[in-house]
Amino acid sequence: MQYSEKVLEHFSNPQNVGEIPDADGVGEVGSPACGDIMKIFIKVDGNIIKDVKFKTFGCGAAIATSSIATEMIKGKPIEEALKLTNKAVVEALEGLPSVKIHCSVLAEQAVKSAISDYYTRMGIDPGPIIGDIPDPHCII
Ligand code: FES
Repeated sequence: MQYSEKVLEHFSNPQNVGEIPDADGVGEVGSPACGDIMKIFIKVDGNIIKDVKFKTFGCGAAIATSSIATEMIKGKPIEEALKLTNKAVVEALEGLPSVKIHCSVLAEQAVKSAISDYYTRMGIDPGPIIGDIPDPHCII
């Protein structure tokens, strides 16, 4: 399996690893097929994602997709973070092997779940804003 330089870089030096104890939103998703779990914590100020951290118990590609996804949404307005697609994650990583595409889906789902949790905590129905989060259990 060929990994891009970018994937190897994020796997060996992942960004934004950890937890935010007083997070405003937490998203946790998992793949029943591979058993990998990804958890994303966000801290929101106004509508800006001020801080984001992740914990991923999973494969190297899942660590790389978590790392780059957190970089891509940090400091961004929520509306922009919601536009993050797994395709954008794959592109930013300069590609993923096809059997690892689902790892990028986990990253999109985890970000959207964290934002959904944020809205729920604010007493706002996330449904109309976020739409359907692709099946929280990813498909291989
Ligand atoms: Fe399942 Fe990577 S192999 S998340």
